[in-house]
Amino acid sequence: MTPPDRTEPDDGAEDDAGEPSFYDTMVATLDRRRAESAPDEASFFNRPMGDQELVEYLSFQAYYELRAAQFIGRWLADTPERDALVLLAQQVEDEANHYEYCMRALARRGVTSLDGWTPEPEWEEWIDVWYPSGADTIERVAAHNLTGELGACQAFLEIKPRLPLDVQKTFDRIIPDEQFHLKLGRQLLERYCVTEEDCARVEARVVRTFELEQAGRLAYNRRMAALGIADLDDPTPPFA
Ligand SMILES: [Fe+2]
Ligand SMILES: [Fe+2]
Repeated sequence: MTPPDRTEPDDGAEDDAGEPSFYDTMVATLDRRRAESAPDEASFFNRPMGDQELVEYLSFQAYYELRAAQFIGRWLADTPERDALVLLAQQVEDEANHYEYCMRALARRGVTSLDGWTPEPEWEEWIDVWYPSGADTIERVAAHNLTGELGACQAFLEIKPRLPLDVQKTFDRIIPDEQFHLKLGRQLLERYCVTEEDCARVEARVVRTFELEQAGRLAYNRRMAALGIADLDDPTPPFA
């Protein structure tokens, strides 16, 4: 949960009365593209989740959270905006905690490390290469805080009803933090994405991140099929 003494981002609500902001148009674009996606791309979770997939999913999520803590931590050495420094430093702690929560959920299932677990190439391109890249704060948060956190929140909320109670409780701790990360991304983009050139750079990052996320979700389903958990030629309907 978000501790009460943290520096909270502005919620941007006072900007909602007039024309949609650039940020809002980016969110609307992502919502539309997600709605237009094939079921396998729109969601990781088109089938009931058994124990083997749960371990696979938690391993993926632990890897994602660890990498987020690491690459956002590296950005702090190159973040001149004082508000961004404070907010992103808080996010580093959150993502490290999320990694720990996922590892605890894995430990309850007998998995104590990710050493024997290998990410798919699409996940490395998306999470290890693309997210850490970005020339400045707006490019970084456009990819991770806007596009990535939107996708993560959507996935968490979709999958949660299908999880065992202990993992649902894990997600109950993670989801408010991810919503905080969305809000801080909104604040930083509305404050620092000001010129047409800025907006063009942000839009390019949003679009490319969405494409990589979609490829990552397809790779997840391919991996589950290879493990015998899903049959790609006989897709089950979306669970939602
Ligand atoms: Fe996280
Ligand atoms: Fe996050």
